Amino acid sequence: MKNVLSGIQPTGDLHIGNYFGAVQNWVRLQEQYHCYFCVVDYHSMTIPYKPDKLRENTWNMAFRLLACGIRTENLFIQSLVPEHTELAWILGCVASYGELTRMTQFKDKADQLKETDKDAFISTGLFTYPILQAADILIYRAHYVPVGKDQEQHLELSRNIAQRFNQQFGCDYFPLPEPLFTPTPKILSPADPTRKMSKSLGAKHYIDLFGEEAQIRKQIRSAVTDTGHTPAGEMSPGVANLFEILRACGQIDAYNALMADYQSGTLRYSDLKETVADALSALVTALRERLHHLQDNKKQVKAQIEASSAAIRERARQTLREVREIVGLPALKA
Ligand code: TRP
Repeated sequence: MKNVLSGIQPTGDLHIGNYFGAVQNWVRLQEQYHCYFCVVDYHSMTIPYKPDKLRENTWNMAFRLLACGIRTENLFIQSLVPEHTELAWILGCVASYGELTRMTQFKDKADQLKETDKDAFISTGLFTYPILQAADILIYRAHYVPVGKDQEQHLELSRNIAQRFNQQFGCDYFPLPEPLFTPTPKILSPADPTRKMSKSLGAKHYIDLFGEEAQIRKQIRSAVTDTGHTPAGEMSPGVANLFEILRACGQIDAYNALMADYQSGTLRYSDLKETVADALSALVTALRERLHHLQDNKKQVKAQIEASSAAIRERARQTLREVREIVGLPALKA
């Protein structure tokens, strides 16, 4: 069975864009592959943050992923496997400075930080972020990495690092990881449907997957439908987004019926919104119930995640033993 690995940063909430665009797909991949899914808390240290908040968000994200259907044995917290950082150091000596400087996400994130504060602190960690990501993937010798297009460049870097490592040390140790671009719905911001749903845009731009039903209904009701710039005969991005959400919720019959109304020019946006709000509410209510159940057993669930992280750590240690041998470091005593 091939290995799959992916990671998600512990931002405070999981929104429906993350769910439909990534997590739902991860849940399905568990049927076909040996999966590793990690909450990448080390990565969240690359931009300014609060320590208590980071720890809280990390556990919250782990609980949410379980509520979505990720199996405990496939889930771990990145920093509970500190070998990731050791491998990142070793890979950093195989990656070239030049290729790192070409990473566009670093430039984008640094610019974003400077936009809010022109003297913003830009850490070296933000710069070497993709090397840690390569370590996340290679430490489990993953074959496939389900990611969005925005991670394509980082994936290519991971492949290049793996290839150079194999070449430099005359071995065939790391499989070259390939991105898995499963087509997933791209959910847009309800408040500005010209942009991707994102937490960093602000509260009205994302719908919390574990939010209150009333809040979700309100957000759908006030979703922007007409942006005023849509060429005649084309569906406006806001309306298309509502249809997309409906389809993502699995409401194909309602989707087809409302689409027929749209095409005949009889669709009332309020009907579309009500249907979308109902569909989302049903989904969110079910997920919230599962989350509450996990939270009622917080201690045990935490212990299970710690245990799965420890089990996964054993695999990472095995890789490190082999890598240390290959690159010329002394063997660690057990
Ligand atoms: N950089 C990824 C993102 O922002 C998160 C991530 C960290 C990741 N390590 C990973 C994704 C390893 C895939 C594999 O989405």
